[in-house]
Amino acid sequence: MATAWWEECIVYQIYPRSFQDTNGDGIGDLQGIIKRMDYLVSLGIDAIWLNPIYCSPMADFGYDITDYQNIDPIFGTLEDSDQLLREAHKRNIRVIFDMVLNHTSIEHPWFQESRLSKDNAKADYYIWSDTIPNNWQGAFGKKAWTYDDVRKQYYLHSFLEEQPDLNWRNQEVVDAMFSILRFWLDRGVDGFRLDVINCIVKDKTFRSNPKIVGSRLRPYDMQRHIFDRNRPGTHQKLRMMRHLVDSYQDRMLVGEILAEIPGEPELAASFLGRNWDELHLSFDFSLAYTRFNAVKWQRSAKRWCEAVGKNRVPSWVLNNHDISRLVSRLKGNIAKAKLASLFLLTQRGSIFLYYGEELGLPDSKVPWKSIHDPVGKRYWPVHPGRDPARGPMIWTDEEGYGFSDGNSWLPFAPDAGAYAVAVQEQDVSSMLNYYRALITMRKEEPIYRRGTCAYLNTNNKHTVCYLREYDNEKRMILLNFSGRNQNISMRDMEHPKGEWTLRFSSQRMLSDTKTESFVLQPWQGCIYSLKSKSS
Ligand code: GLC
Ligand code: CA
Repeated sequence: MATAWWEECIVYQIYPRSFQDTNGDGIGDLQGIIKRMDYLVSLGIDAIWLNPIYCSPMADFGYDITDYQNIDPIFGTLEDSDQLLREAHKRNIRVIFDMVLNHTSIEHPWFQESRLSKDNAKADYYIWSDTIPNNWQGAFGKKAWTYDDVRKQYYLHSFLEEQPDLNWRNQEVVDAMFSILRFWLDRGVDGFRLDVINCIVKDKTFRSNPKIVGSRLRPYDMQRHIFDRNRPGTHQKLRMMRHLVDSYQDRMLVGEILAEIPGEPELAASFLGRNWDELHLSFDFSLAYTRFNAVKWQRSAKRWCEAVGKNRVPSWVLNNHDISRLVSRLKGNIAKAKLASLFLLTQRGSIFLYYGEELGLPDSKVPWKSIHDPVGKRYWPVHPGRDPARGPMIWTDEEGYGFSDGNSWLPFAPDAGAYAVAVQEQDVSSMLNYYRALITMRKEEPIYRRGTCAYLNTNNKHTVCYLREYDNEKRMILLNFSGRNQNISMRDMEHPKGEWTLRFSSQRMLSDTKTESFVLQPWQGCIYSLKSKSS
């Protein structure tokens, strides 16, 4: 069977507020994304995913929606989104929209109606209760239940109180949300990134979650989410959604699965469906939450691959709009970041990159008085919130960095000019050119996207080595997770014998051929390919 596009794509996530402003209000917009289409082409990515652009009061920056079938004026108009789809498709770039199915904005007309009485037409669109029935917590602080003065009942919100949870046990809600999906599929959207999709169905009798002992920053993390997440009924809803989406040609669903830190790959994989009939792809965030260490990264990647199994497709992600940027997590060490992206882009399946990742962009520093993110407002200074990872894209080293002629809504990263696209394009050894080279290699050689993967034991806890095989081709990927030279001797290892030729290195290196022993420089990653017998 031919491989579907989503089984081996590279998706570039754009946080629209921060990509490109075109009207000087300091906030990125859809025309800005359209303006940068050729840059997207130059990266070699297959698709873009946009964080929510629908009408929203922005209590959670677009994850609180008042109109699912229109574009917030801050970003543009419905015509702009049609134009964006056309411009992207013309260049063979697919467009994934973010879809928030778990909750709406408190200002959504459905909620405004629902809160009026216990017997109006939308009364059961949300989850109401006379008393607080359990210990559930909101992910952003406070209890998950808030009293509404109008209806004189409590409503459930898994996130902010401005984000009431929809009642997915009400068929009318299911139908309404499905018709929203159809609205965008009909307009040509290539798929959806489904926000917190394992939260949509709640325990029927609202049982309390079991507590976890220990101490965590958020009360939300002090319980096991078995009754407000991951309910068995979710799978049936996902099968219906898959059915709907597959009735269109070549569309895709990728789901965000909330999990306990550092990650639950088996849980993320479970939403791909036992018969591969739920999500096309799901996110496992283990690598983003696992310390940068050879043994730990290998264990984590292996576990995710095993959970997914060979008949389904893993997706890989190191950055997104909710977590500190990789380079900042690695304390600015670009050599480590290059190693990490080599690891990422030599994995089977689909890859998700986050705008600015290709520049090695670090987090912005956001002073307390400039915090926008509700998570930051609540937990600063223990947690600075998510604004730092959402800083503006850096296009040039001039004033405004090519992002905006006005005042940017968030601060630029420190020393921003050094990361500019225009600057990096002039430098062959820049991060940007490094990403481009890796992406090109992945596109040209299907072995990286499709080949099998076997980890080889290097007997060296600072290194990772895996063998990829496809169609009589072989590649060995060797990674040094330490700041010292490391030797890997393959003498005692089970590996295909022959002459290995250097195919790619994360650091400048002369061409090289090896048979049994390899030396890796600090933080170096290399790809060797086995000369086929006939050549
Ligand atoms: C997801 C989004 C996050 C948002 C939350 C609530 O985790 O990625 O940005 O705040 O859902 O919708
Ligand atoms: Ca703007």
